[in-house]
Amino acid sequence: MNAVSPILQNTSRTAELVDARDRDRFANVNLSPFGFRHRLALELPLTVTDLIALSERLPDGDAFKGWQNGITGISDGWNQRPAERLTLADTLAGIETNNSLVVLKHIEQDDIIGPVLRDLLQDMFDCSSRRFREDVIMGECLVFLNSPGRMTAYHFDLEASFLLQLAGSKTVYAWPCGDRAIVPESEIAAYCGAGNLSAAVYKPDLRHLAQTYYLEPGDGVHFPSLGPHCVQNGDSVSISINVNYDVRSLHGSLRHVYAFNQRAAKLGVKAGQPGTRPLADKAKAKAWIAALGAKSAARRILGRRRSGEGYPIWEPRNTNA
Ligand SMILES: [Fe+2]
Repeated sequence: MNAVSPILQNTSRTAELVDARDRDRFANVNLSPFGFRHRLALELPLTVTDLIALSERLPDGDAFKGWQNGITGISDGWNQRPAERLTLADTLAGIETNNSLVVLKHIEQDDIIGPVLRDLLQDMFDCSSRRFREDVIMGECLVFLNSPGRMTAYHFDLEASFLLQLAGSKTVYAWPCGDRAIVPESEIAAYCGAGNLSAAVYKPDLRHLAQTYYLEPGDGVHFPSLGPHCVQNGDSVSISINVNYDVRSLHGSLRHVYAFNQRAAKLGVKAGQPGTRPLADKAKAKAWIAALGAKSAARRILGRRRSGEGYPIWEPRNTNA
C-alpha cells in the first residue's frame, strides 16, 4: 500500500455533497446542461501526488487507465496520437509541461478515495428527478488530470455525466441535447451502432448555440446523454472528477436498436429509424440482446467494460422511490 495523504483520511464529511442551493437544478438531469456547486473540492482535495499513488493502486489495463500525449484541437478524435506516447508514470510526473490528459477509471471502488465518491454517486442520484432515478442502472467515477491549456475535443457520451472541478480551472462549452441539427441521426447511429466514440462532428457554425461554464474548484456542470461538449483547460494543471450514470433507455435499449439496425442494413434490410416506433424498438432491442447471448448481454446491459469484467460496480439505493 502506498503512502496516503492525510487529506484523504477525512471521514467527518456531511452526507450532502451537492450544494443545498443548487439541488433543485437536478430536476433537469438528462434534459439540459446546467451548472452547480459542490463540496467535493473540500472533502477530496486531490493533488498530482495523490493521483500518482491512485494510479499505482488501480489494476492495469484500458478499463482503468487512459492517457493521451500532445496537443489536441476541438475536432480531434479520441484515438488521435498527436505526440510520441509516454508511459503513464512519465505522463503523470510531467503533466505540468507535457500537454497531456490522464483519465483513471472506476475510482469509486478505490479503498481510500472510494467511500466519498460512492456517497457522491448516491447524493447526485438522490437529488435527481424520479424519471431519471428510474432510468439509472449503475454509476462510475473517473478522475481527469489535464495539462495547462489543453483542449478536450468536441464529443458526446451515452452516459449522463457530471464534471466536478477540484483543482485548476476550465471553460466548458455544452450544446443542447435532442437537437438533430447539432447531433444528426447519423452520428448517433455511428456511436451506438458501430461503437465509434469519435462520431461527433464539431460544427463551427453552431458554436453560438453552446452554453459556456467557467469552472473553478467547487463548481460543476452536467452534460446530458448525447449532449455534445468540449473543454478548454485553464493555465494551470486541472484535476476534476467525472461522474457517469448508465441509463436503461440508452445502454439497455436504444444502443441495441441501433446495433440491430446496423446489422439489418448489412443484410440489405432497411429498418425503421429508432425512436419512431416504440414497440418495434422494444422488439429489436430484445432480439439483439438475445443474439448477443445471455451472458454477453447481461454484461452489456450493465455497461461493464470487457477488460474490467468482474470488477465491482456501483448501483444506487433507491432511497426516494
Ligand atoms: Fe464527456
